[in-house]
Amino acid sequence: MSETQTDGVVEAPSTISKSKSSNGVEGVYMPNDAVVENANITAYMRSKGFSTYDELYQWSIKNPEEFWTDHASELEWFQPWEKVLDESKAPFYKWFVGGKTNIIYNAIDRHVKTWRRNKLALIWEGEDGTLRTYSYHLLNREVSKIANVLKSMGVKKGDIVTIYLPRIPELPLCMLACAKIGAMHSVVYGGFSVEALADRIDDSKSRVLITADSGFMRGKFVELKKIADEAIARTPSVQTCIVVRRTGQDINMESGRDLWLHDLLALPIASAHCETEPMDAEDPLFILYTSGTTGRPKGVVHTHGGYMVGTYTTLKHVFDIKEEDRWWCAADPGWITGHSYIVYSPLLTGTTSFIYEGAPNYPYPDRWWSMIAKYGISILYTAPTAIRGLMRFGEAWPSRHDLSTLRLLGSVGEPINPEAWRWYHQVIGHEQCPIMDTWWQTETGHFMITPTPVLPLKPGSATRPFLGIDIDVVHEDGSSCEANEDGLLIIKRPWPGMLRTILNDPDRYVTTYFEKVPGGVYTVGDSARKDEDGYIWIIGRLDDVIKVSGYRLGTAEVESALVSHSAVAEAAAIGLPHELKGNAIHTFVILREGYEGSQQLEDELKAHVGHEMGPIARPERVEFVTSLPKTRSGKIMRRVLKAQALGQDVGDISTLES
Ligand code: PRX
Repeated sequence: MSETQTDGVVEAPSTISKSKSSNGVEGVYMPNDAVVENANITAYMRSKGFSTYDELYQWSIKNPEEFWTDHASELEWFQPWEKVLDESKAPFYKWFVGGKTNIIYNAIDRHVKTWRRNKLALIWEGEDGTLRTYSYHLLNREVSKIANVLKSMGVKKGDIVTIYLPRIPELPLCMLACAKIGAMHSVVYGGFSVEALADRIDDSKSRVLITADSGFMRGKFVELKKIADEAIARTPSVQTCIVVRRTGQDINMESGRDLWLHDLLALPIASAHCETEPMDAEDPLFILYTSGTTGRPKGVVHTHGGYMVGTYTTLKHVFDIKEEDRWWCAADPGWITGHSYIVYSPLLTGTTSFIYEGAPNYPYPDRWWSMIAKYGISILYTAPTAIRGLMRFGEAWPSRHDLSTLRLLGSVGEPINPEAWRWYHQVIGHEQCPIMDTWWQTETGHFMITPTPVLPLKPGSATRPFLGIDIDVVHEDGSSCEANEDGLLIIKRPWPGMLRTILNDPDRYVTTYFEKVPGGVYTVGDSARKDEDGYIWIIGRLDDVIKVSGYRLGTAEVESALVSHSAVAEAAAIGLPHELKGNAIHTFVILREGYEGSQQLEDELKAHVGHEMGPIARPERVEFVTSLPKTRSGKIMRRVLKAQALGQDVGDISTLES
């Protein structure tokens, strides 16, 4: 390419127009020739006989089955599939039908048969500086031991085990152990609290819960076992609670129900050898609860076969994984980002994955940068909220560390704002590291709209659909929007890592995702626009999901936590823009007779939501009101509350209750 480079911004080739975004970062960032030449995606493109990425993409959406088959064939199967995609019961799609595998066979077993057995699979640093490392060999042994413990308790194929742990190695180990024996894991984020945990246990009816005495966060204890005890008391299913000792804090252990993991691992049943259970490609791998528009969180179901192929393929090409990489996805394994890109895909690609337990700025704001230098991290994948949080401490903190091992950066969870993009690119990436802004969801399982290192970047845009993914921005009637026109983001064709259903509620799966726009397409729930180059710009959620610091929360859950307080008759929650968190939760509360609004009650209600849901759901404000805007059918009009709070026009309120 002949463009001249200035600050990483180069003139776009004539086929790509300059960014017209209103987000403030001008220009198009062109890929580096050497990166393009060595990229995994370039090798694949050439192997298919194409000379441009556009040709490869066009082919891939016309032949998605061939594209995914090429990658599924790089993994091992106990029995090959008979059919790549079965659409006969759409939208209940099936992938790799008849194939038998187990994601653990590809994530661990196949590596220990090669020299990779001695390669590091996981490096973990505790907030207190403790270091633990696992080679693939050791990982195999530790996972097998836990798998045998679970088996000895009667956990078997098809059971659901709830895991509620801090960010410690036992979290991925327990997930992998469940998958190995064919049980599903349902991980509940360690930052959630009593009601959130109880709801999730209740829906999955788990008999076994795995938790820890407590975790460390900013040097303080997060009392997980105490929260778990309260949650167990609210739900009937848990018979056994396995407890990991992390902090050594004194906790209640209920005899006959609670067992220490280290005691169980010392028993002869905990042998380091365990056969990996052969699974049908369509057998469920895990449940992960996520917030939706109404009611309780939805248990999103993912499978062994398709999810494995999707996460493997996307990590390999988007972050261009090479044998020598040190990969750090700084999310929590308790969310989909962690499931797919801390636990499963790094192991599937045989890479070394780094996990850090604690807060990014503890004890000092250079904690992250010091660990990048210490472990020679080559790829960092995080959320805009974390970048904004670290940016405010200034450049001096990162600049005292050698970050030259970094070659790629990533972003996920919410649109990245221009200041954060620029800082990430200049101060952390030294203008040498392309930023992979990946758009996807709990439901999609893996990246859907994302650059690869060969694509020109437009800061603030997740760029273009991944290979094999057919996406559009449409009006409510399903017709395509014009370039740069706001519309609904849809996915036109099924993909291997897609959710298969919602646990215990297949109807909700159909109505939530496949009935909003005609044509049986998957409706995402985001508004977006597509520019003249086909680049997608995500605008935000269209439903009552609030993204707080990149975490997905439902207004319904926050409201239900509020009304569980004796002073509250009715509540409404909305998200309002927040400089660091992206959005913050604002709530409106009607009090019961006999209660009066006060600062003290506001503080009490905030603490109550924190106790029930977890600190991330703690409202920024609780406003006491005497009425809430409602439709005639009694639905709270949150959009009116939001417009009022932002001083905007409230729009059409003809359906408002009079
Ligand atoms: O609104 C989009 C936003 O996060 C939502 C999905 O949230 P969750 O299921 O928690 O998964 C988050 C991590 C995969 C999407 O509907 N979102 C995710 N990534 C991006 C994004 N918004 C803009 N840009 C992104 N890169």
